[in-house]
Amino acid sequence: MAGRVAVVGATGAVGEDLRRLLEARDFPCDGVVFVASERSAGRRLPFRGREVTVRALTDRDVFDGVDLALFSAGASTSREHAPRAVAAGAMVVDNSSAWRMDPDVPLVVTEVNPHALARRPKGIVANPNCTTMVAMLPLKALHDAFGLVGFTATSFQAAGGAGQQGIDELEAQVEPLFAHRDLLRRDGAAAMKLVEQRVHADVLAFNVVPLLGTEGDDGYTDEEMKLQNESRKILDLPDLRVAPTCVRVPVMVGHALQVRAEFEDPVTTANAISSLEGFPGMVLDRAPTPLAWAGRDEVAVGRVRADLGDPRALNFWVTGDNLLKGAALNTVQIAELLVEGAAARG
Ligand code: A2P
Repeated sequence: MAGRVAVVGATGAVGEDLRRLLEARDFPCDGVVFVASERSAGRRLPFRGREVTVRALTDRDVFDGVDLALFSAGASTSREHAPRAVAAGAMVVDNSSAWRMDPDVPLVVTEVNPHALARRPKGIVANPNCTTMVAMLPLKALHDAFGLVGFTATSFQAAGGAGQQGIDELEAQVEPLFAHRDLLRRDGAAAMKLVEQRVHADVLAFNVVPLLGTEGDDGYTDEEMKLQNESRKILDLPDLRVAPTCVRVPVMVGHALQVRAEFEDPVTTANAISSLEGFPGMVLDRAPTPLAWAGRDEVAVGRVRADLGDPRALNFWVTGDNLLKGAALNTVQIAELLVEGAAARG
């Protein structure tokens, strides 16, 4: 039993799924504290047939009596407030990028490296980036069979990866652009001036945006570097060669990636499929789309094809709900493993 569970960022897109999953999975706890910014303090959110009043993170005693805190309120908030929760006696599972690359913080995909949970000197466990998460399940299955040495990935990331604001911005752009759909064919640049754009790097509705995150000096964005650095840590392959490109697409939720993976050993399509089959949390499908998989727990893999030129390479497609396995579901699954571990030790 986890005692009291705090959800920090309870009013956000991931927070909404965290609340729903704690309830739907009958998470073993005897109370919840919903936490957000001062803007949301006093709002009432349903949980297990009752209404829970949202508290401000700035309240001094907000973590008193909390045994487990699930954070999804952005990196700077986590950096400042996760240590407060630990000091108050809580285990923390953090969904932001704040702690992921800290050597004293395990970065865990529950089907891939649950053993990493055993060592957590800071009392914090990090949940991986939503795009990296989706790719980890098939790459781990294939690594175990053929020995992964590197991969090239192009992501197709949903608006919801930028939180509720990302979804709101896409929604707001659709109707004005559709009302002038002649311009979408004749003068796209004029059409783009009809809508506001702030969250995504360019107008997203009826478009594809090949820039996601903040560019570094080498031209790669921070989002692309997460795909390299987090994959290396999760798979425990420090020399893994990763060539990432992250693209935002006008999908509400559900990230997808096209991956070309390279291995030590030769790989055929048939051998790859039998290695992928049965991996927990993952299913095979012919050509799974983010829309068809929105709202589902599993990650879906399709278009599995041996490479045309290199007998040691394989191409495949993977998609998964970025708010579920990509965020809230894995966070709750980590919490379930922590509670089981505590129960086993107790
Ligand atoms: P609030 O709704 O009060 O702004 P999303 O990822 O969908 O944008 O959600 C972000 C979540 O993190 C929301 O619940 C938001 O609360 C919360 N949040 C953002 N900044 C802070 C902060 N400085 N302190 C507490 N909660 C925050």
